[in-house]
Parts: sequence; C-alpha cells; structure tokens
Amino acid sequence: MAREFDPGYSGPYRPLVESYPDESVYPLDSFRVEWGPIFHRGRLDGSARVLVIGQDPATHEAITRRILVGEAGQRTQGLLARLGITRSYVLINTFLYSVYGQGGGTRHIADQGIADYRHRWIDAVVQDQHIEAIISLGQLADQAYTAWKKTPSGTASTAAYMTVRHPTYPESASRTGSITKAEAFQKLCDSWNLALDALHGVVTPDAPVALRHYGSTITPADLAPIPDVDLPAGLPAWMGDLDAWAARTGVDAQHKRATITVTVPTRFRTWPVLQEP
Ligand code: URA
Repeated sequence: MAREFDPGYSGPYRPLVESYPDESVYPLDSFRVEWGPIFHRGRLDGSARVLVIGQDPATHEAITRRILVGEAGQRTQGLLARLGITRSYVLINTFLYSVYGQGGGTRHIADQGIADYRHRWIDAVVQDQHIEAIISLGQLADQAYTAWKKTPSGTASTAAYMTVRHPTYPESASRTGSITKAEAFQKLCDSWNLALDALHGVVTPDAPVALRHYGSTITPADLAPIPDVDLPAGLPAWMGDLDAWAARTGVDAQHKRATITVTVPTRFRTWPVLQEP
C-alpha cells in the first residue's frame, strides 16, 4: 500500500519548530500548553499559493499534530476546493496552543512574544513561497493578519487578503442564544461567498473549477477530507476522514483538560467481530 505523507519541517521552518514559545509566553491559565505546540498543515515546499490563518488547535489537531483537521478544517478544506485549491495551501493558527477558558485568546492576541513568533512564521511562509492570497478565519485571525501587515514583511507583501467568519461561527454564535444556528450558518455562507467572489480567478487553481456559491448552510457535501499528504507518516487513514473521532472527556474540568478520548469511527471498524468468551 502506498500513501503520501507530510515530510515535516526543513529549511526556514526548522528553526521555528526547534525553538518555540513555551508557558513563559503562553500563560497556562489561558492555553493548553501541556498538549504541545501544533504548528501548521499543508505545503512547506515552495508550492503553496494560499495562506490560511486559523485560530487555535482543538482535539483532533492535538492528536494528529497538524492544524485544522477536525470539522472546522474540513469546512475550510471545502472552501479552498471551491477556489480550485486542493493542494497548494498552507495553514497556520493565530495561537500555537489550544485556548483554555473564556476570553484567553482576546486577552493575549497582542502579547509581544506570541505576536513575534507568529510574525516569524508568516514571514517564512511569504518569503519562501509565492503566496497569492491570505485568508483569515475569524476576528482573532484577522487581528493577527492586521498586526503582521504593519511589519516590513507585511508591508512588502502583495498577496490579496480576505477575512471570513470562522468555520465554527454557527456553533459558537448560536450558543449565546442571540442568533439561531440557521441564521448563523447563513451569515457564515454569506461571508464565505464574498471571499469566493474576491478570490476566485485571482488565485491560480490546482484544478480550475467554476465559481459555485454556498447556499444557506454548510452541508456534509461541502466538507472535504484532509489529504494524506497533510498528515504525518503512519497516521491511520480515518484520522483525515470526515467522521469525528476525538473528544475531551472527564468527570470535571481537571480531568477534561487532561484527557482526549480517541474512538475509531464505526464505519472504519473493519476487523472481524469475534464471539465474546
Ligand atoms: N482547529 C484549528 O487548528 N484551528 C481553528 O481555527 C479551529 C480548529
């Protein structure tokens, strides 16, 4: 069996993963530093044309060690596919670690050590690859981009830019009760359609596709699986597939922070079922 895999970090990215901000920069009351830094997903070989800036990693990302792998990532992968971008992308997050608790991201978005390291990553990506467009997912990622854009490397960049609602906006916005999930999905689709209008035909596609807008919601058909080439060698194929397989579990906040339960999705349980003794 032959499967592609992500070869890891070399060239300008190697120093970034050899030495990175720890809990002296990312406070432990606001970030799950104990799960380690998760750096990126996608091409680091000079072939990326679109840079996506996400927010922070969650459960699926903590296990696969690549960002935007769970449902948010699969929605984003679907958005890129509508631009004809199936391979030539690189994704980084605003934060290296998962945000813990309410407001941690907002409180620390502009912290010097966090911003400086993030700027080094964006600099490496735009200097090493021919990035035609940058897309930020959500307000914190937009702030991250805006701060970088003021740096010398940001000022020199000619990449087109669009900020869109975060892929999990419908779930987070409707949780407060001020908007229904259906209304929030409509807003997400409207925002993503604006990005399609602005960027379709501006970024060079891997495979040209006709411009196709979202309707009023994101359906399962709008998700795209995470390609093998984005995942470290040896991960089981189901870790890039559409079924959710990781969740924080535990009887209280302490156990929940310490635990991610991984479950092989039902349709991937292909082993023979033996009779219980
Ligand atoms: N997972 C990520 O890695 N980033 C996001 O923004 C959301 C989920």
